[in-house]
Amino acid sequence: MLVDLRESWWIGPVEIPSRVVLAPMAGVSVQAFRRQGRRFGAGLVCSEMVSCAGIEHRNERTLGYLRVARDEHPLAIQIFGSDPVVMGEAARMVEGAGADIVDINFGCPVRKVTKTGAGATLLDDPDHACRIVDAVASAVSLPVSVKMRRGLENGSRACLEVGPRLVEAGAQTLTLHPRSARQMYTGSADHSLTAELVERVDVPVIASGDIVSRARAQAVLATTGAAAVMVGRAAQGNPWALREIADGAAEEPTCVEVAAELILFVRETVRELGERRAVGFLKKFYGWYLGRGRFPRPFKQELVLLGTTGEVVERLLAAAPGAAELVARLEAELPDSAGEIVLDSMPISIYGGG
Ligand SMILES: Cc1cc2nc3c(=O)[nH]c(=O)nc-3n(C[C@H](O)[C@H](O)[C@H](O)COP(=O)(O)O)c2cc1C
Repeated sequence: MLVDLRESWWIGPVEIPSRVVLAPMAGVSVQAFRRQGRRFGAGLVCSEMVSCAGIEHRNERTLGYLRVARDEHPLAIQIFGSDPVVMGEAARMVEGAGADIVDINFGCPVRKVTKTGAGATLLDDPDHACRIVDAVASAVSLPVSVKMRRGLENGSRACLEVGPRLVEAGAQTLTLHPRSARQMYTGSADHSLTAELVERVDVPVIASGDIVSRARAQAVLATTGAAAVMVGRAAQGNPWALREIADGAAEEPTCVEVAAELILFVRETVRELGERRAVGFLKKFYGWYLGRGRFPRPFKQELVLLGTTGEVVERLLAAAPGAAELVARLEAELPDSAGEIVLDSMPISIYGGG
């Protein structure tokens, strides 16, 4: 049976207008990425993981993650940490920042995070994981979701034991990326575990991992009973993948469309991070946007070497002259940023968060 990907569903009282969720990705999921994701059909977008300790200490950079634009709702802000009290406090700040959902990271396999007792290592300590979920759920009136891996070791089925307990502790949605933490991003996501998890809990489950096309999304939804699919790497520099998955719009973007989206993304990112940080942050996006046979390879190399984003935009406009008009149209359609909650800061990045 084909699932309608444009059908809405609910996380507690929050209506999610499509069954496509944009994945949280450290070093990627800036506000510009999330807003673009919403425009291209994601029903829910998520911040990258934010350190609860950073929030507690009002770390300037960390607070930058808590910026919420009015056109990205519904939005989940993801927090990670190991101290239930601090996680509860962080959740309150996430609520204050205007998020719709607080997401807890029990999936990050990166040592820098797991050695602090946070991320995926909590799957090995279900009692403590439940204390964290309980503390967060008690601290806020927003729905709480949890994102996790299958377990720490290859072949682990820990998520099936831990998942139902997290729901009992207050999680209103579970996202499963069914790779082990040890696997990092190798091998493939085993969505037979997603199907088993769906059987064991009475909250919506989001399937994350290797969703790269509408056909794959339909297959995973149909065979697992998950409420939604989450799209990560396939959407990097490629919001058109979201549109293909959500709507079946299979046309490849033209060079003008690619250049226009990239220019908009560059400008929005500069507004968010400031020029100095944006220059370095954006470099990986040039390959993601301009690859896939869209532009000759040396063009990306050329952009990476440029010292200012102004020069990047200039080169893109020269390579795709029609882009200027399209950017103007896209910019005119965006709501202005007045009313946005700005904590005047910038994000940090820890790659590989889940
Ligand atoms: C660069 C990168 C950063 C990531 N950062 C996070 C993160 O901050 N929080 C999280 O829960 N998952 C994080 N993930 C995992 C993704 O959310 C997703 O579960 C995973 O990439 C599998 O989905 P995909 O095959 O669609 O990419 C990250 C993944 C990548 C590639």
